[in-house]
Amino acid sequence: MPEFLHSERAPGARTNYLFEGPESSVKLRASFLVGLIAVCASARYLASQAKSKPMSTDERLLTRGWWPTKGSEPRDRYVGTAACASCHAHIVETQKTTPMAHASMTANSEMFAKSDVRSPLTFRAGAYSYKISQTTPRSVYSASDGTQSVATPLDWAFGSGHFGQTYVYQQNGIFYESNLSYYPAIQALDFTTGHSRSAAPSLSF
Ligand code: HEC
Repeated sequence: MPEFLHSERAPGARTNYLFEGPESSVKLRASFLVGLIAVCASARYLASQAKSKPMSTDERLLTRGWWPTKGSEPRDRYVGTAACASCHAHIVETQKTTPMAHASMTANSEMFAKSDVRSPLTFRAGAYSYKISQTTPRSVYSASDGTQSVATPLDWAFGSGHFGQTYVYQQNGIFYESNLSYYPAIQALDFTTGHSRSAAPSLSF
């Protein structure tokens, strides 16, 4: 008889190992529970190991299933919000008023929709003066040392402008974060958090 079924009863007593008196059934249940907890714990441990293993984007791209940067779906397969409105009209309407809906925008006139953001936004660092101007279709980021100047169209503005707004532009297919951001607390441009506060060594973006 396995130890966990052992019942210390007088010989000849009726024995029902699964539904015995208090002592053996407690023993049985306790052992079963300990076993169950051990199995669950190891299963959970394995699951957590599998889940917590960080994967690089390259690894993600090799796995099955959807991943934002996979790009396996052609752009025209994305139906957009309008396709949801026929059934979820209320959600589509109220979503527009959420902070999330204004967390990023294409770098156009919406960037200057708030009354304290006036075009052009300007900033000076060392010998350089910077400017963000509202132009159509996209705003332009430019820098000048007084004689020469460089300019790039902006693609995106990130941040609703409640605490700040940072701009993103593209050069040779690579996205860059602007070294300057707009801060409503000072109603002006200043260095983007994490960017060097010293003036750039040369006139470039
Ligand atoms: C033809 C009608 C129809 C269209 C179009 C539609 N849905 Fe739905 N959707 C439904 C129904 C019905 C439900 C189930 C609602 C429920 O169970 O309460 C649902 C549920 C959902 C849910 C789950 C909500 C929850 O609380 O669990 C999400 C998320 C959702 N839809 C997103 C979308 C998105 C995004 C689009 C557009 C790309 C879309 N739907 C287009 C009819 C539609």
